[in-house]
Amino acid sequence: MSANGVKDRSNLVPFSSRLKEGRALAQDVWSIFNVANLPSDCINLGQGYMNFSPPKWVTEAANEALQGVAENHYSHPKGRMRLRQAIKSFYDPEFNRQLDVETEILVTSGANEGQYSVFVAFLEQGDEVIMFEPFFDQYLPSVTFNGGKPVYVPLHPPGSGGKSTSNEWTIDLDELRAAITPRTKMIIVNTPHNPVGKVFTRAELEGIAALAEEFNLIVMADEVYDCLTFDGKEHVRIANLPGMWDRTVTVGSAGKAFAATGWRIGWLIGPEYIIRPTLAATTRIVFCSNSPLQEAAAAGLEQARQRGFFENQRAEYTERRAILTDTFDKLGLTYTLPEGSYFILLDISKLKFPDDYPFPKSVLGRGRDFRACWFIALELGVSSIPVSEFYCEEHANIGEAYGRFAFCKDTDTLRKAAARLEGLKKFIQ
Ligand SMILES: Cc1ncc(COP(=O)(O)O)c(C=O)c1O
Repeated sequence: MSANGVKDRSNLVPFSSRLKEGRALAQDVWSIFNVANLPSDCINLGQGYMNFSPPKWVTEAANEALQGVAENHYSHPKGRMRLRQAIKSFYDPEFNRQLDVETEILVTSGANEGQYSVFVAFLEQGDEVIMFEPFFDQYLPSVTFNGGKPVYVPLHPPGSGGKSTSNEWTIDLDELRAAITPRTKMIIVNTPHNPVGKVFTRAELEGIAALAEEFNLIVMADEVYDCLTFDGKEHVRIANLPGMWDRTVTVGSAGKAFAATGWRIGWLIGPEYIIRPTLAATTRIVFCSNSPLQEAAAAGLEQARQRGFFENQRAEYTERRAILTDTFDKLGLTYTLPEGSYFILLDISKLKFPDDYPFPKSVLGRGRDFRACWFIALELGVSSIPVSEFYCEEHANIGEAYGRFAFCKDTDTLRKAAARLEGLKKFIQ
């Protein structure tokens, strides 16, 4: 009963307890550092989406699909045949095998929903899923909503000072072994990595594969940035290591490949016994994925090689990366040079800002990096994402040293952001 005697009806039926897990109800970093909360002229290098359109020949395919009849209706839950064929043609040489479009490929509503469906299909209550920290934040609720228990193994950052590349973030195979228990079901390997930019080496993947084999684990190979590696770095697919095809599901995303994150088209590639139950799950979650944009994604994969699209895209991203790193170099700031994906981790531990700065409440209760990123956004007009968000509470202090700057923006915007970031000079200790 409220003070005026009227029955409070604002919370009549309690929501499900599963929302109390996996930080599902916590205010997430994306809503705190949302454009709506920041000054209107702030340049957004926070959330990882592009400020440019997909290639014209891909959007034209989307427009064409919208003019059809079948393309506007339900698709087969496995995905439209044209897209499954395009995935097969593109990935057959990648996996050195003839993929079966009926049993080894599944189109999903973005990589995210595909990963969720794998968890639905394979996790029993209490099953453990190992992920390397920092981790893509969606893994956490996707695992806990399905009764799984996340288990964290840190990627160790490079020693302080001096230049470093993402390759210097390392895994400790003994730590990984120690994290495995009789309840471990799965390990997520994200390469190229968000937010570190690390491209796992063959030796690292062989070490992980040997443990997966020894303890009979499924490997979820999150390779949504597979077409975005730099400096000639080889992207090794863990599914291609001896014996690993049988226990690996590889995750891809049209959003990342074709600058179309809002399309929500992704795919899973793996052995029949993983794809079949995952198909059953995705069919009950979304039934099928967006039909016209499946056609557009198919056009993208069909033409990408002959157009040299991914080589060009890599060169464009290399130029974008350099605009920020040149500025950080000029300022003498330490950062991790990413060998893949489109994020730079800037070491913000030497940034000084007044303790009594008017920070909003949402930022005050969090790590120092939340305040540092907020300060940079407000004082310099460039937003970034505090990296402690990608860690569990116990290890959040590792992430507090970094802000993540996304360079999936056009060069003019990045140059403007770089000019503003030069103003960091007066705030460095
Ligand atoms: C590592 C990683 N995996 C999966 C996803 C989800 O991709 P999608 O947008 O296709 O759902 C993202 C998106 O940021 C990501 O960074």
